Amino acid sequence: RTVAVLMGGPSAEREVSLSSGRECASALRDEGFEVTELDAGPDLSERLRALAPDVVFNALHGRWGEDGCVQGLLEWLRIPYTHSGVLASALAMDKQRSKAAFRAGGLPVVDSLICRKADVMAAHAMPPPYVVKPNNEGSSVGVYLVNEAANGPPVLSADMPDHVMVETFAPGRELTTTVMGDRALTVTDILTDGWYDYDAKYKPGGSRHVVPADIPTDIFDLCLDYALRAHEALGCRGVSRTDFRWDEARGVDGLILLETNTQPGMTPTSLTPEQAGAAGMGFGALCRWMVEDASC
Ligand code: DAL
Ligand code: MG
Repeated sequence: RTVAVLMGGPSAEREVSLSSGRECASALRDEGFEVTELDAGPDLSERLRALAPDVVFNALHGRWGEDGCVQGLLEWLRIPYTHSGVLASALAMDKQRSKAAFRAGGLPVVDSLICRKADVMAAHAMPPPYVVKPNNEGSSVGVYLVNEAANGPPVLSADMPDHVMVETFAPGRELTTTVMGDRALTVTDILTDGWYDYDAKYKPGGSRHVVPADIPTDIFDLCLDYALRAHEALGCRGVSRTDFRWDEARGVDGLILLETNTQPGMTPTSLTPEQAGAAGMGFGALCRWMVEDASC
């Protein structure tokens, strides 16, 4: 069977996606698939039509690749593709709207507002500590933490969008759970010296992952339950990964759902392949499962 691996693209997570895509393409070749690597540009539609692959493996991250856009194109071309469909992708990429879906599903999220960038810089949009981030980016691109010690509201960079999300800071440990189909795999505890930012995510040694997480059983099971329910609340398909913060001092009430990623990273430092490994599934088998699960 022929598989086209979509990677790169124009989003802020382009480099992450190239890394994910190359890993997956190489693993799929080892699994015996005939693989073409496609860097997603404006001619993507024509290239896909000419290639007519049996399956598209979507290794894109961020805008255009994770937000329903490319999924819509693939529906239109009638090519089965991996991961979530149009609506789930669009919902998950929009942090504010995905929170509304999580709340409706009874899942715990922190309060947030969508504000004009100029207003956020003029006065504190909420009492510190809070976080300012783009409503639709991944990999911690453009995330600002404003703490009590800050002298005033944040100065946001010129490339931040006109409207941003302002979110109550959720303190605590960084936990994450991958869902594969109808099964939540395990929980990873992510240990960093500071913030789990872009560098900590992708520099080898930038963070330490404890999998399975050494946390109380009730918290562990709650992560599995919440991740599965988040996947369902958004209508996800295939593999997704849900990120949490857990404030130990508050026990089960301290577990907060941050977001669900419909195109979780597949780079050498990424969490999802590591969790699949811990559940007994190697990287090649994980990529094969995704291809076999593809639909449109
Ligand atoms: N946004 C990155 C790729 C992740 O969630 O893994
Ligand atoms: Mg993300």
